[in-house]
Amino acid sequence: MTPKLIVYYSRRGENYVDGRIQNLAVGSTEIAAGLVRMLTQADLFRIEPVQEYSPNYCTCIDQARQDLYHNVRLELKGFPDRFGEYETVYLGYPNHWNTLPVAVISFVEQLDFSGKTIFPFCIHEGDGMGRSEADLRRLCPGARILPGLPIRSADVKYSMDVLEDWLNNTKLENQEELI
Ligand SMILES: Cc1cc2nc3c(=O)[nH]c(=O)nc-3n(C[C@H](O)[C@H](O)[C@H](O)COP(=O)(O)O)c2cc1C
Repeated sequence: MTPKLIVYYSRRGENYVDGRIQNLAVGSTEIAAGLVRMLTQADLFRIEPVQEYSPNYCTCIDQARQDLYHNVRLELKGFPDRFGEYETVYLGYPNHWNTLPVAVISFVEQLDFSGKTIFPFCIHEGDGMGRSEADLRRLCPGARILPGLPIRSADVKYSMDVLEDWLNNTKLENQEELI
């Protein structure tokens, strides 16, 4: 069996969850990535910028908005070993300003995803996947991007079943050409 990889970005600290700012020791996408790992036994990789955004929610919101607006790229601490060997990548990220966080953009731009199948799952506070899937298609030419799973941050803890359904049903859709 070919190895599978979960890649995720998540931020600890203050965040908007269930309509209010909460201080999180573990980010919501990090929790979801852990559940995907339980379901798939895939290898796990966390995207970590050298310079993290502020743990303060309001400062972070502004940093992320500025970076997106100015097309900034973040320096990352590292990349997965033997990335070329993975055919399937489960890609988890929070919705940042209705799209992918800049850390995820910085990550996918530096690797070759052509020929790989990507399962995107996005944790959000009301905007679902936003335009992240369209942006992924543009950033990962030649990759097969399957229909993503949006999960509201407050629901993450209870999302094992919904994740399992999505992984199983989306596998069936693997037979179709979805690009
Ligand atoms: C910089 C920033 C921008 C955000 N923008 C959006 C947004 O546009 N739409 C949305 O639904 N949620 C937005 N959120 C809320 C996050 O997607 C949500 O809190 C998510 O659970 C964070 O995941 P994490 O804990 O793994 O970082 C934003 C949060 C941050 C920090």
